[in-house]
Amino acid sequence: MAIERTFSIIKPDATARNLTGKILSMLESAGLRVVAQKRLHMTRAQAEGFYAVHKERPFFGELCAYMTSGPVIVQVLQGDNAIARNREIMGATDPAKAADGTIRKTYGESIERNCVHGSDAPETAAQEIAYFFAQTEITG
Ligand code: CMP
Repeated sequence: MAIERTFSIIKPDATARNLTGKILSMLESAGLRVVAQKRLHMTRAQAEGFYAVHKERPFFGELCAYMTSGPVIVQVLQGDNAIARNREIMGATDPAKAADGTIRKTYGESIERNCVHGSDAPETAAQEIAYFFAQTEITG
C-alpha cells in the first residue's frame, strides 16, 4: 500500500458543536495521522478560491457563506491510501446517504453542514494542501 497525504477540513458546523476531538479520534482510529493542523476563520476570498471548481453550481454562494460562518480546522492527514481511507471514514457527501459509522452519518446535519471535507484525488490533495500549508508546516 502507498503512503499518501490528503487534505481535510473540519467544518464550521462541527467546530460550533465542539466535535473537533470526536472527529479527530475517528480519523486517527481509521489509521490516519495528523501531520499538520491549524484552526482558522476563512475569508470569503479563501473560500471562493478553495471551492472554485464549484463556482458554477447553484449552491456555491451558500457554500462559501457557510464555510466563512465560523472557524474551521484544516489538516494534512497521512497514511496508507490516505485519500480513499479518509473518504471512507467521512462517508457520502449527503449524511442521509452515508454509511453507518461514518463521520457524516454520525454527526452531519445536511448536505451543506456535513462536518468534514476530504480531497478526492492525488492531484486535488496536493493542490488543497498547498492552498493552506507551507511544506515547512508539515511534519510526519
Ligand atoms: P465538500 O466535500 O466540502 O465539497 C463541496 C461541498 O459542497 C460538499 O462537501 C457539500 O458540503 C457541498 N454541497 C455539495 N452538494 C451540495 C448541494 N446540493 N447543496 C448544498 N451543498 C452542497
